[in-house]
Amino acid sequence: MKAIELFAGIGGFRLACDELGIDTIWANDIDKNASKVYRQNFPTTIHIQDDINAHLAEVPDHDLLTGGFPCQPFSSAGKKLGINDVRGTLFASIVEIINLKQPKFFVLENVKRLLSMDNGSHFSTILNALSSIGYFIEWRLLNATNFGLPQNRERVIITGYRTESIKEISPRLLPKNDTRNVNYLSLKKVYDFSKWVNFSQHKSKFKNWGCAYNGKFIDIDIQDFSMSLPTKYLYQILEKNPDNSFFFNEDTKKRIEESIEVNRYYNGVEIRYNQKGGARMGYSIFGVRGVAPTLTSSTSRHYERYEIDGAYRRLTNVEYARIQGFPDNHCQNISVYDQYVLFGNAVPPALVKWAINQLTNTNGLRLAQIENIDDFTLTASSF
Ligand SMILES: C[S@@+](CC[C@H](N)C(=O)[O-])C[C@H]1O[C@@H](n2cnc3c(N)ncnc32)[C@H](O)[C@@H]1O
Repeated sequence: MKAIELFAGIGGFRLACDELGIDTIWANDIDKNASKVYRQNFPTTIHIQDDINAHLAEVPDHDLLTGGFPCQPFSSAGKKLGINDVRGTLFASIVEIINLKQPKFFVLENVKRLLSMDNGSHFSTILNALSSIGYFIEWRLLNATNFGLPQNRERVIITGYRTESIKEISPRLLPKNDTRNVNYLSLKKVYDFSKWVNFSQHKSKFKNWGCAYNGKFIDIDIQDFSMSLPTKYLYQILEKNPDNSFFFNEDTKKRIEESIEVNRYYNGVEIRYNQKGGARMGYSIFGVRGVAPTLTSSTSRHYERYEIDGAYRRLTNVEYARIQGFPDNHCQNISVYDQYVLFGNAVPPALVKWAINQLTNTNGLRLAQIENIDDFTLTASSF
């Protein structure tokens, strides 16, 4: 199987594909540092450093298209033209490549906020565009913490596979050992197409799992993978002897002394202290007995304070790599400062590996095979 990686960054999808034996033959990103890292790690892949819109015609044939596309609002002018109109956006380049190349599968990744932005109209536009070109679409909100990583990072994964007939559809992101928390009655309505909704009629936030086909969708709020504790904690991935430059100076220490002890967990993140007068996460001092808050590319987050073995410091670039599930030296050919940005922007390979495997493994469970669900037949009448 051959894959291409759009908005490739430092290759989060690429690492997942490598582990699954999928060959990534072509990649693109506009960013100089990301491209430098990509080329050093994956020298045999054709990598174009430029605006994707200038290279649409060069994309080779492939079976799987992957991409964590930038979350870029559609213009209000676009909206007025109707929900099918995605012209001029980076997302439009994805639709164009899919249309042109007709890959069997695609897996896209984006931030959780995409489900609720602008009362769901953004996500509506995306799903409508993807489901109107012959693909069965399924999305699910996943958290890195459920994939062996010490980080609370929720991401929407949107998958699609090409299908000629509604009779062939089978959601694949709800594996059998994960369905115990799903309400079977709600699941049943997935196969009752009269319950599916037209995108044009939807005006609110989308739920955390759903599927779409031919301009219609159905969604359900399912519980997270398992409600169990994380399998990895921050203290387990720390560097032994980080450089002095990662520790805080006397000034910061003084401010820390003025903080108020909190000692509680928020989304699995241990909060040790909050700065007086401000309980915002940005002013917190974190512990390492929980998971990390979502790593991002924004510089202020890179200087967040952690209490580690009685000292105060920020996380190192290597710890960022480990929290995202990349090899320690993945970004070694660029500055430490820039590494934080690239790791913060990346997709955890483990999370998308799971999604790609579920999608492409056609032996995956079909909903109709789930025990306890009455045998109901698919009808295409509503389409
Ligand atoms: C959310 S990041 C994706 C990160 C990637 N999944 C990874 O694992 O590193 C989005 C990427 O889109 C790239 N990008 C933004 N505009 C672009 C454009 N016009 N053409 C190509 N790439 C672009 C950015 O440089 C950034 O690396």
